[in-house]
Amino acid sequence: MQSLGRIRLPEPARVARHQYRILSDHPSCVRPKYQSYSTASICNDTAGPPQYVKIVEVGPRDGLQNEEKAVAAADKIRFVKMLAEAGCPAVEVTSFVSPEWVPALADAAEVMSEIALWKKSMDHLAAEAPATEFSVLTPNLKFFNAALRAGADEVAIFGSASEAFSIKNINCSVDDSIDRFREVLSAAKQNDIPVRGYVSCVLGCPYQGHVPPSAVARLSDQLAEMGCREISLGDTIGVGTPEQTVGMLREVQSAVDISVLAVHFHDTYGQALANIYAAVKEGISIVDSSAAGLGGCPYASGASGNVATEDLVYMLHGMGIETGIDMEKLIDASDFICKVLDQPTKSKAALAISSAMKRSS
Ligand code: HMG
Ligand code: MG
Repeated sequence: MQSLGRIRLPEPARVARHQYRILSDHPSCVRPKYQSYSTASICNDTAGPPQYVKIVEVGPRDGLQNEEKAVAAADKIRFVKMLAEAGCPAVEVTSFVSPEWVPALADAAEVMSEIALWKKSMDHLAAEAPATEFSVLTPNLKFFNAALRAGADEVAIFGSASEAFSIKNINCSVDDSIDRFREVLSAAKQNDIPVRGYVSCVLGCPYQGHVPPSAVARLSDQLAEMGCREISLGDTIGVGTPEQTVGMLREVQSAVDISVLAVHFHDTYGQALANIYAAVKEGISIVDSSAAGLGGCPYASGASGNVATEDLVYMLHGMGIETGIDMEKLIDASDFICKVLDQPTKSKAALAISSAMKRSS
């Protein structure tokens, strides 16, 4: 049994610390254009699971973008700070998008500016603890400039492997989106801001159904070629299964090095954790997730939340993979936002750990 604060957890939650080593000079690791500590390529000499997985916490953005209940900016800010204090290496804070189309994130400038100020005030601690990177979604140059003014560390552009989803989501074709993204990449380079690229609908589209893996590989290749330091492959509607995940990843790997690929699973059909397990076994070392399993997409009706960060951390630590995240503090952050939203957590690990804590107190 492992001790976690006041309670004791079963074996699988044990964290294998200090086992990973940074191999950014290893020939199998591509050094991304804008590399920093948290995206240094951490990989094994041989194929197989990595020893460290970087978790990108998307709860404040993907988790809250589709919420009908209004969440005050102050609560969003507190949620982001709690996630950073739990040790999340990267937190997606909000989106700079049309407030008409995504009203839940209309306060993006206020939230991001406050977080940037907070981070600056903690600069003196940076040597002791690695700082969290705070990113935001930006679909075009206009919104990139707003994100820059608000002090985002990183921006994410978001394209789609499905033509139909691209039009519904960002109001333009895949080819036109590439032109818009090039403008963002060019401005980001001038301002020394790293860019993450999303590819949505990698295992299915709510409008066109099947999406060929070759379309995922093609867009991933274009995003890598234009300078994205990370490419996150999103199963937006959570329809994929592990075998499909592996097939898609192998196709994408023929175009883009695995060290810059991330996976992003929604859990609509309960496949997210199984898919992540398969992806990590393939050598994926960056995984997106959402505290309490919050989430959904306004343009993918019926899609449920992302995999819960607590469940992901529990599984990875059980595999002996380091994440740097403190489970107890993570659950505190999830409890906080669930109370604000007045809804229960979707994380089974959080439920089990919280009830074990109650029993032992
Ligand atoms: P734009 O094309 O620049 O349009 O917006 P505009 O703001 O200049 O407006 C032009 C006209 O197009 C207006 O109509 C708009 O209402 C309309 P008019 O007033 O002239 O009659 N319009 C639209 N119509 C239908 N659908 C639309 C739309 N947008 C504008 N979507 C922009 C482009 C990207 C800014 C805008 O479409 C937007 O803000 N979209 C929101 C995108 C978003 O935030 N989606 C959720 C995040 S992506 C996601 O969740 C997936 C991810 O998690 C990965 C995964 O799970 O796979 C990242
Ligand atoms: Mg998503």
